[in-house]
Amino acid sequence: MANPVVAGHEKIETSNFLMIVLILLAVAVGGIVEIIPLFFQASTTEPVPGVKPYTALELAGRDIYQREGCFYCHSQMIRHLRSETLRYGPYSQAGESVYDHPFLWGSERKGPDLARVGGKYSDEWHYTHLNNPRDLVPESIMPAYPFLSKNLVDAAGIAPRMRALRKVGVPYTDADIAGSFDAVNGKTELQALVAYLQSLGLAVKQ
Ligand code: HEC
Repeated sequence: MANPVVAGHEKIETSNFLMIVLILLAVAVGGIVEIIPLFFQASTTEPVPGVKPYTALELAGRDIYQREGCFYCHSQMIRHLRSETLRYGPYSQAGESVYDHPFLWGSERKGPDLARVGGKYSDEWHYTHLNNPRDLVPESIMPAYPFLSKNLVDAAGIAPRMRALRKVGVPYTDADIAGSFDAVNGKTELQALVAYLQSLGLAVKQ
């Protein structure tokens, strides 16, 4: 019992109050040390060369992707594992997501990762697939989205969204925002969603 370290430990471990306070302190300090530097590192705050803000149509498509919950089944995060990079292409980098608010990395993979699906198929392939996945992949469990080709994009809603994104650092110009109505007016939700899918992951080449 003479050892002061053992005595100190025993005091902490037999006191609920001390234990709770010291755990909270350790977790808070650990969290701060891990999280704060991320706000200042170029690799997490600067866009990877070639990453551009979404066009008005792609942005409208991204909203539909969120509304329909595509991320419940599809991640957009290729991990640093050989099996992943062989299947999907180069692993995802933080700087590819700097304009994503919120990011859609996801963690569920009932379907394949979509981080680099841009350019993998033709627009026509996506139109057919989204209308009814089983027309192209007979064993697919993905839901059909036939209504997307009947709904028009909410053209008036896109400029306020671009202004909101500008407030959190996406470099949209006044001209981008002024032209957004005409860019999406008359387009179907299907066209917007496919424009978004075709933009994914193109900045980092194979
Ligand atoms: C219930 C889970 C589920 C949901 C929800 C879902 N998918 Fe899928 N998706 C799959 C599965 C499984 C596959 C693989 C079979 C296939 O190609 O249909 C797939 C395949 C895909 C592919 C082809 C990927 C490739 O590399 O071959 C695309 C693109 C895609 N989905 C887009 C979407 C979009 C966009 C949405 C939302 C509108 C969506 N998915 C919703 C399960 C899902």
